[in-house]
Amino acid sequence: MTEVDLDHHRSGDAVTAELRADVVAGLTAERKWLPPKWFYDAEGSELFEKITQLPEYYPTRSEREVLAAHAGDVAELTGAHTLVELGSGSSEKTRLLLDALTAHGTLEAFVPLDVSESALAEAAEAISKDYPGLTVRGVVGDFTQHLALLPGGQPRVVAFLGGTIGNFLPAERATFLRSVRDVLDEGEWLLLGTDLVKDPGILERAYDDAAGVTAQFDKNVLRVINERLGADFDPDEFDHVAYWDAEHEWIEMRLRARRALTVEIPGADLTVRLAEGEHIRTEISAKFRPAGVEAELAAAGFELVRWWTDSQRRFGVSLARSVRG
Ligand code: SAH
Ligand code: AVI
Repeated sequence: MTEVDLDHHRSGDAVTAELRADVVAGLTAERKWLPPKWFYDAEGSELFEKITQLPEYYPTRSEREVLAAHAGDVAELTGAHTLVELGSGSSEKTRLLLDALTAHGTLEAFVPLDVSESALAEAAEAISKDYPGLTVRGVVGDFTQHLALLPGGQPRVVAFLGGTIGNFLPAERATFLRSVRDVLDEGEWLLLGTDLVKDPGILERAYDDAAGVTAQFDKNVLRVINERLGADFDPDEFDHVAYWDAEHEWIEMRLRARRALTVEIPGADLTVRLAEGEHIRTEISAKFRPAGVEAELAAAGFELVRWWTDSQRRFGVSLARSVRG
């Protein structure tokens, strides 16, 4: 297999320092929380791929249906020379866009960016092999920090798929969308996948599957903290919970202590105490309504050009153009 060089914006020491700061902030808070990006070491990325194949986890299939139907429209409307993908993971669905943009004849470069080096390396190598004329520049980086450094000729389409935008809190989401707008020139593009509000039963099953893969994924964050900071979390002492917060319209993933626990985290100089039944919020996954997506895009400086959904209206994909301001 061909070797693809990756641009690195994250050194091991810096990653550990960042995790330490997040662990101290999140686990000393009155309501404990951890940021979801720490799910994704090599094992977490593999578990996420397994999630995408679960019968209960519809978002990947629904978004793929939309991309299969409309990737040609994306190519026609944008005439993109560069496809940037943020939080690219396996870039499996992205191949539908690469196929359409290649057939359209404009695409020169693909720039996937992800914190998970293993997932990125595998995807970049496979794509480089399967699309011989394409320049593939993988970036190991954080999409909240490293957007200014993205390579590639214009016009660019920035794809942010999978509903990962829903893993931000609302204020973080606004900051993130504005930061994407800030690195684009007027007339460049954002392709955004958003999971939609639906029956809570469907949502809760999607985030608490019968085979227990999502529970394993949720607990992976504890393993990452054990490995990097020498902590002694016992994942078996926690229950995975998927809770639909109807007020905020998001699924909250939680790890709930089965009994009172004391956890030592030497790499963060921290002892954490959890009461029986106390939980750590590990992720929110916000669900959207079409008007809300359009309003948030407009507030960040994007004009909605197309809005597509799958046949069951479970998942929305927006194509938006950056405008002045
Ligand atoms: N886009 C893919 C993967 C979604 S999973 C899909 O639609 O299936 C979310 C991806 O975002 C993971 O690959 C994870 O490693 C990456 N990720 C999470 N937080 C990140 C961050 N702050 N910066 C960059 N990548 C991040
Ligand atoms: C990456 N992100 C969009 C997924 C989601 O659905 O919020 C992560 C995930 N969490 C549990 N299952 C999948």
